[in-house]
Amino acid sequence: MTQAVIESILSEERLFPPSSEFAQQAHIKSFSDYQKLYDYAKNEPEKFWAELAEKELHWFRQWDQVLDWQPPFAKWFVGGKLNVAYNCLDRHIKSEKRDKTALIWEGEPGDVRTFTYAQLHEQVCRIANVLKQLGVKKGDRVGIYLPMIPEAVIAMLACARIGAPHTLVFGGFSAEALKGRLLDAEAKLVITADGGWRKDAIVPLKEQVDRALENNRVPSVKNVLVVKRTEQAITMKAGRDYWWHELKADAAADCPAEAMDSEDVLFILYTSGTTGQPKGVVHTTGGYNLYTHITTKWVFDLHDDDIYWCSADVGWITGHSYIVYGPLSNGATILMYEGVPRQSNPGCFWDVIEKYGVTIFYTAPTAIRMFMKMGEELPKARNLSSLRLLGTVGEPINPEAWMWYHKVIGGGCCPIVDTWWQTETGGIMLTPLPGATTTKPGATTFPFPGIVADVVDLDGNPVGEGQGGYLIIKHPWPSMIRNVYGNPDRFRRTYWEHIPVKDGNYVYFSGDGARKDADGYFWVMGRVDDVINIAGHRLGTMEIESALVSHVGVAEAAVVGRPSQVKGEEIVAFVTLENNFVASKQLEQELKQHVVAKIGAIARPAQIRFTEVLPKTRSGKIMRRLLRSLAIGEEISGDTSTLEDRGVLEKLRG
Ligand code: WTA
Repeated sequence: MTQAVIESILSEERLFPPSSEFAQQAHIKSFSDYQKLYDYAKNEPEKFWAELAEKELHWFRQWDQVLDWQPPFAKWFVGGKLNVAYNCLDRHIKSEKRDKTALIWEGEPGDVRTFTYAQLHEQVCRIANVLKQLGVKKGDRVGIYLPMIPEAVIAMLACARIGAPHTLVFGGFSAEALKGRLLDAEAKLVITADGGWRKDAIVPLKEQVDRALENNRVPSVKNVLVVKRTEQAITMKAGRDYWWHELKADAAADCPAEAMDSEDVLFILYTSGTTGQPKGVVHTTGGYNLYTHITTKWVFDLHDDDIYWCSADVGWITGHSYIVYGPLSNGATILMYEGVPRQSNPGCFWDVIEKYGVTIFYTAPTAIRMFMKMGEELPKARNLSSLRLLGTVGEPINPEAWMWYHKVIGGGCCPIVDTWWQTETGGIMLTPLPGATTTKPGATTFPFPGIVADVVDLDGNPVGEGQGGYLIIKHPWPSMIRNVYGNPDRFRRTYWEHIPVKDGNYVYFSGDGARKDADGYFWVMGRVDDVINIAGHRLGTMEIESALVSHVGVAEAAVVGRPSQVKGEEIVAFVTLENNFVASKQLEQELKQHVVAKIGAIARPAQIRFTEVLPKTRSGKIMRRLLRSLAIGEEISGDTSTLEDRGVLEKLRG
């Protein structure tokens, strides 16, 4: 972030208080109500969470202890028994919500399906029985590699119902990436589709699953359950592969929800970090259910007649927490859309909002910037007056994009909730509450009640007003990451050891940089580690470097992020070649394709720069700072005295 941007943040004077009309009907109606909740939660965290857990969720058995904190390992609602699928479905079908629409789905070719709570419940029960019939037991992991179709939601809830942790793999990830995740999670079964619609083409999902599993490369996987979506030809391996619709038709429509321990694993979701391969972030049952439930209710100010649309993919944490678990636990009507805006259908999002009367819309800054580029005529040609609240997530939102969203999409009257959180936090951590918080374009404002956040230096001391520092969380919260699957050491190192432990107080290190302004507003600046955020998707530079060096021609690779107008950041890779390889346009294309095959299209480098050498310190560390400057065409400034071979700079420039 440049000095000029920082100064403009710190002097931001545009303030957007909630309208009294919005505030009056909101769950949290004023800033003083927020402050009261915040103070109560800070002073009496266990009471605060226990009261909510009792009021907002159904428990088969009460907990014995609210929090067992043995840093850095937390247990919430110890001894309590519940089932997330029960909270998302069964309790609603026992109420007047039975025939309320739970899910409206619009497919990419324009097909539509809707499910009431009772219908969704039945589908989930049937698939839960199918999973059992295929030998999936409580505790077994199930891989889910599906497009944005209702079956993805049904599959997740079916897993939750029988206590089989799911691990979703975004449909844009390659067969290689899928294999890595299935192996690490030791999945027993994979749920996929013959194909998925992506823009105007079909992604051959089943074929990718076949490739991931070939030669018994993932021995734990015994079966593949295949949803028919695109109807293209696929091979079904006898004894391993089954059609979803066939088994579902024969399965019983009733399946009791398993009473899960509050700390039983609900899901594992892989995310990129600074080192090594993506890590499996473990989330458990009770705390996650409660936190996603209450954040959905208060942050999106959810009411019974809302039509709520979160445009994320279910394969990411945003889809888990704010398409599926949070909204359904609240008994909301959710909208799910398979399509993405593109040349051939640039106004499709606005069509969906108009057609279904969407009231709450939650999307990513990268999408907003793309819409800005497409022009305001598209949204202006639709009636978006049903909207009453807008949200963003995934990356810092630049104030111009915020203002555009506010004016053009929100018609100048919808509050915007800029929500900061991560796969690891499970739910929204820093956010306005729309009836209470006066927003500033680009600020994620304040911590959710129960969250104690700060900006500190590397010694853990709070930095001064307006100063940059590390965003940390001080007290455990219900939906926090419980572990890195199979790797508690990595869990400890990654999140709990960057900031020194003082007086036994552990703080959670987010990996993000932030500032607090004179009014105490939090401004998140972006990652401070080697993680790049491309169009709201997290990728580790090391993962991309490993993908590059797995190509026979590549000797060494160093990857950095470069600012991009629409995507936020894009990938620039510096590559040195093996002796018998020569740099060429063709090789550049081949390497880009190689990364796509290894990871997926989201990781395609924007540019590959061939170089004879990489700048390194005397201890052999690649000096990324220099590469970042080179990638944006900046003059190299700052200290280069640790550079081992000073001639390198000249070579890199040339
Ligand atoms: C970034 C997505 C600024 C941040 C829910 C974080 C944000 C990473 C915001 C997590 C925001 C997310 N403002 N930055 N409102 N929301 N981020 O795990 O860098 O895919 O660490 O979770 O996205 O990405 P993840």
